[in-house]
Amino acid sequence: MTIHSGRHFLQIPGPTNVPDRVLRAADLPTIDHRGPEFPRLVFDVLEGLRAVFQTTGPVIVYPSSGTGAWEAALVNTLSPGDRVLAFETGHFATLWRKMAEALGLAVTFVPGDWRHGVDPAAVERYLQGDSAHTIAAVMAVHNETSTGVTSRIPAIRAAIDRAHHPALLLVDTISSLGSIDYRHEEWGVDVTVGGSQKGLMLPPGLGFNAVSSKALATAERARLPKSYWAWSPIISANRQGFFPYTPATNMLCGLRESLAMLREEGLDAVFARHSRHAEATRRCRSSLRSGNGTFVRHPLLGGLI
Ligand SMILES: Cc1ncc(COP(=O)(O)O)c(C=O)c1O
Repeated sequence: MTIHSGRHFLQIPGPTNVPDRVLRAADLPTIDHRGPEFPRLVFDVLEGLRAVFQTTGPVIVYPSSGTGAWEAALVNTLSPGDRVLAFETGHFATLWRKMAEALGLAVTFVPGDWRHGVDPAAVERYLQGDSAHTIAAVMAVHNETSTGVTSRIPAIRAAIDRAHHPALLLVDTISSLGSIDYRHEEWGVDVTVGGSQKGLMLPPGLGFNAVSSKALATAERARLPKSYWAWSPIISANRQGFFPYTPATNMLCGLRESLAMLREEGLDAVFARHSRHAEATRRCRSSLRSGNGTFVRHPLLGGLI
């Protein structure tokens, strides 16, 4: 048997390491999700999430992985046979497309080389060509975890607006939320999909949808089948500080703590930290490449890599 000493330190894009403060906050005897102290937790978490998504609208929390939150975004806003426009920016865009097809949507999947984000000019071109407005939604992955390629969401929004097209804008921020500047409301996104296990510094297990008022109105007529994922019963239970089912109570305790940590550091400082680490990683990779694969001392990381 191999005995590993020290602490397991996961170095992948996500799940990320969970800070001790967050682990301790989740390490509690389970509380009653119908009890009197539960609404305080729910209100704190929803307020903190609105700050991170940069929205004043509803944020829905699911006890799910990010994939569940993808599905929720689609089934709440779309109807069988609806056309959606998606872009091959990498592995996760490809998986989201497959899900859309499995749900009975007609996906126009614009091919890509996994080295570039969504091309706003292509968005505009496809939407201009759809004068009958049959495209119901544009789907974009903000940060492709598989490649590190980031798409420019405000430029996509501007392209939709230039085409005067009513399509919804659905954005996956699973690896960008809490890592790269992201503004649900200011950027005019209709549904933002998030997950707990990356920039939010939690274990895997929570999925999120931030929702615009246009998406909420569309949800009233969207006909894809849904029950568990339906926004409306969750939003109305949340108003009283509860959920219509048993929520992931201990994860919510951890989330309250991670949101507090993000607030204390300040989102701008958080984004600057991630950008510094990303730049350090890029420079290390190029140093390694030019160094015949030998270890090098890197000025940004200040040690041997
Ligand atoms: C950008 C992106 N989208 C979607 C997913 C799928 O999320 P999950 O694995 O939590 O279901 C991931 C997972 O890493 C991701 O990075």
